[in-house]
Amino acid sequence: MAVEFKKETKDEFETIAARYPVRRAALLPALWLAQREFGWISMDAMRAVAEMVGCSPAQVLETASFYTMYHKEKPGKYHLQVCQTIACLLNGSEEIKKTIEQKLGLKPGGVTPDGQFSYQPVECLAACHNGPCMRVNDEYHENLTPEGVGKLIDELKKKG
Ligand code: FES
Repeated sequence: MAVEFKKETKDEFETIAARYPVRRAALLPALWLAQREFGWISMDAMRAVAEMVGCSPAQVLETASFYTMYHKEKPGKYHLQVCQTIACLLNGSEEIKKTIEQKLGLKPGGVTPDGQFSYQPVECLAACHNGPCMRVNDEYHENLTPEGVGKLIDELKKKG
């Protein structure tokens, strides 16, 4: 199903694009606008971005697929991204992943049937000094323990 940006978003993009020498250089912020507006970057959203930026949908896909922060699948209401890179790995990220997988019954890339939670191990989240860490949507959680993650999931479930 085709999607279209709101007029305000298009205007916002024009302001952003004016800061770049060519429109295509504003592809990353355009993808952020798409994610904010549509919740994730579907193929239809990529077509809308391509039209707005003035490049091909394939070029948008190439860029979007490189970055884990752009959701190419519809995420759950709470999207859990657990760092699995070396500093977090040495501090126990495997236990964090195991806790999430057992508590939510999810495999990497999965979404709970009620759409509340999705889970994805990712590479370095740039909080290496406080690993293991994860993001829940845009919020960082650092120095995690399996007990703490279990508690956090329970709180998010209660919050709905
Ligand atoms: S290694 Fe986990 S945040 Fe950098």
